[in-house]
Amino acid sequence: MTKRLFCFLRKFANTEFINITLLFQMQEKIIILDFGSQTTQLIARRVREAGEYCEILPYNKFPAGDDSVKGVILSGSPFSVYDEKAFKTDLAQFRGKLPLLGICYGAQFIAKNLGGNVEPAGSREYGRANLDMVKTDDPLLFNVESGEQIWMSHGDTITVLPNGGEIIASTSDVAIAAFRIKGENTWGVQFHPEVFHSVCGPRIIDNFLNICSCKKDWSAESFIDSTVTSLKEQLQDDKVVLGLSGGVDSSVAAVLLNKAIGNNLTCIFVDHGLLRKNEFEDVMSEYKSLGLNVIGVNAKDKFYSELAGVSEPEKKRKIIGKGFIDVFEAEARKIKDVKWLAQGTIYPDCIESLSITGTTIKSHHNVGGLPEKMNLKLCEPLRLLFKDEVRRVGTKLGMPKNLIGRQPFPGPGLAVRILGDITPEKVHVLQEADDIFIRALREWNLYDEVWQAGAILLPVRSVGVMGDERTYENAVALRAVTSTDAMTADWARLPYDFLAKVSSDIINKVKGVNRVTYDISSKPPATIEWE
Ligand code: XMP
Repeated sequence: MTKRLFCFLRKFANTEFINITLLFQMQEKIIILDFGSQTTQLIARRVREAGEYCEILPYNKFPAGDDSVKGVILSGSPFSVYDEKAFKTDLAQFRGKLPLLGICYGAQFIAKNLGGNVEPAGSREYGRANLDMVKTDDPLLFNVESGEQIWMSHGDTITVLPNGGEIIASTSDVAIAAFRIKGENTWGVQFHPEVFHSVCGPRIIDNFLNICSCKKDWSAESFIDSTVTSLKEQLQDDKVVLGLSGGVDSSVAAVLLNKAIGNNLTCIFVDHGLLRKNEFEDVMSEYKSLGLNVIGVNAKDKFYSELAGVSEPEKKRKIIGKGFIDVFEAEARKIKDVKWLAQGTIYPDCIESLSITGTTIKSHHNVGGLPEKMNLKLCEPLRLLFKDEVRRVGTKLGMPKNLIGRQPFPGPGLAVRILGDITPEKVHVLQEADDIFIRALREWNLYDEVWQAGAILLPVRSVGVMGDERTYENAVALRAVTSTDAMTADWARLPYDFLAKVSSDIINKVKGVNRVTYDISSKPPATIEWE
């Protein structure tokens, strides 16, 4: 089951869960209405980086009557305002009542709705551009100067502004790069202030927050303080179980809960036999040193026997997902009077609006199914945070850098990196090769440069020669990618000398491997994992 589908089902399956969003209902916020742009999440991250809490909602779900909303941002969209299927919202809900900023499609939507004109651009306007006229006394453009670089990405362009519209910035190709409706706190920018290449983007976002009179008091510390207080109040003396995976999200969720309720939290860490070399032991000792009440379960034999002879990737995932629930449930039932299941679900897993344009998502292995089965209520203390915020919270909670900075690792573990069927022997070979690769990345200071790395055991054998002997052994592929969110990825340009050293170490030290290749595929069209 996908994490996001799980979030969706949860709403209907079990209404009793600690919805941390309730806690933040009173927190002042910016609402970002999502019209399906690829960069909507980036807008939210920029707002939060500027210190203001914000939420992304579907374009048609503005929370009318919510006094905590300080301003509204309309995102871009894959649609043209003239498309039949284009998403529309009723501007009267907030226009004139709250400061409003339209970005790209959002700006075109405002212009067209208020009586302006939008047409296909003569030449499509993509990429870097420079502002060559800036109305510097406009509060949205405070501290922004003529000549600054911005990023354009639109096929349509605003040709006529509505009554009262005033151009506040232009580029050489786009006359109406930014506008304001005079006498109103309504702005539109056709460029994307949220993307990295818009150099003045953070200042524009910050100016908008100032226009909204935002307090900008959102920080890791404020999140920890208010979340711990709320968890204490809501959980009282209730017992909570949490499945640890060794990854960042579940670990930070555990430490946060531990701070709130101490030993009433029991963490369960299942060894399915498909973890990295020594990972179970290393992570268990790290968890214990963090003061967590954690039960480690060795379930290797169960998983190996259930996976024996299974080659089909989705079947492997299903077996592991179900096996995980079985083991977790058996352990959780041993703890008396458990009322809550805690999970490390984070914001990108739950943004309801992401489904509006059918954005594809990775499949995920979690404990979906348990709440109903065991009559548990759900507690998801990180469900409002982006990954980088989770890391900042973990750091503030005093967690070690190697736990916080850990690269993503798939729930089904090495099962999706052993192509074909799984045996304990193959797991051992892959663990050894993977360990050499990952240790070398750390030694060469390359670990933090890549998003994710690992070795893959290929189901092919090839001929080699070692000493005077002919060998006929397996090949291992090395995969290392750069990415910001795993939705797209590129192969990491690791130094040749590094690859040469890792290849020779693997072939010399890992019995059963006589060939190493490096995967140079990007995502798309490939994926990060091979299965
Ligand atoms: P792909 O292979 O789809 O991977 O490019 C994107 C990200 O998701 C991780 N991944 C998984 N994580 N269960 C998980 O918990 C899975 O079944 C799974 N499949 C892929 C992958 O490691 C990468 O970070």
